[in-house]
Amino acid sequence: MKDLDPTYIQAPEHRRDSNFIPNQPEEIRVIDLSRLDDPEDVQNVIAEIGDACEKWGFFQVINHGVPLDARQRVEKTVKTFFDLPREEKIKVKRDEVNQVGYHDGEHTTNVKDWKEVFDMYFKNPVVIPSSTDPEDEGIRLVYNKWPQFPSDLREACEEYARHAEKLAFKLLELISLSLGLPKERFRDYFKEQMSFFRINRYPPCPRPDLALGVGHHKDPDVLGLLAQDEVGGLQVRRRSDGVWFPIRPVPNALVINLGNCMELWTNDKYWSAEHRVVVNTTRERYSIPFFLLPSHDVEVKPLEELVSPKNPPRYKGYKWGKFYASRNRSNFQNQDIENIQT
Ligand code: SIN
Ligand code: FE2
Repeated sequence: MKDLDPTYIQAPEHRRDSNFIPNQPEEIRVIDLSRLDDPEDVQNVIAEIGDACEKWGFFQVINHGVPLDARQRVEKTVKTFFDLPREEKIKVKRDEVNQVGYHDGEHTTNVKDWKEVFDMYFKNPVVIPSSTDPEDEGIRLVYNKWPQFPSDLREACEEYARHAEKLAFKLLELISLSLGLPKERFRDYFKEQMSFFRINRYPPCPRPDLALGVGHHKDPDVLGLLAQDEVGGLQVRRRSDGVWFPIRPVPNALVINLGNCMELWTNDKYWSAEHRVVVNTTRERYSIPFFLLPSHDVEVKPLEELVSPKNPPRYKGYKWGKFYASRNRSNFQNQDIENIQT
């Protein structure tokens, strides 16, 4: 039996094989967004998105408009970066002030993840709610950190992020329509918005039965767009019964998942699903998630249109910026930087 640093060991109920049924016939929907060009099919696409948001909080999209060459350029440049010796990578390591750059000590729900990450925020320079003063909900500027080599990593990431953001807002409109709301309903929540962009590398792991690439968690954002490579490992927990399902890699597809904001706004009609990443002994895996975050001053609480005397609000709500800042702050107090998606 190979040894594994105990900080990576998951509790038995959270390990790879717990409550997981491989080769389930049911799968997460794959929705072809080119169908939106057919006026007769638009309503079907919207209904399928709504159904997926309700039952799973996850779906995949193809023909989504994010160019393949933009994605491949990020994949290639970031691989060059992650292949550098650690001494080089930590020249752009995450620090207490700027929560961007390289990090290999990520924890999710207090267990270390088997992965390394490179984080960025867009716009650049971005406005990020974060402060060392617990009473301060203020905002301040942080700047992304870019390595000297590969020199085109920044350009590749910025280009991809522009496309991903465009698609994220398009999906937001479709989700809004699927709720019976005007397509621009959420737009005001993004006036001073920023997006969080991360690249994950999961190296081969000697004990995938004990460790996870990312432990079980829900995302706090509005929605995420994830490019995963062909290796696979992402799993989602089905809303109806809590069973874990694999999310099959589909070439050039993006995996879309709803975060906590959407669950609250819809008063639980739509679902922010728990998910995790399993690793394997032989192959490294890359994934590239892009997260849409609301403006710092947005109140995240059930929308008035979606509550009624019969369906009263289930949440009091919270202010996004304050929540995000305190989440980051408490992580630093714990020494280790907790996964901001948890
Ligand atoms: C995550 O949810 O944090 C990562 C998902 C993935 O790598 O597939
Ligand atoms: Fe996540």
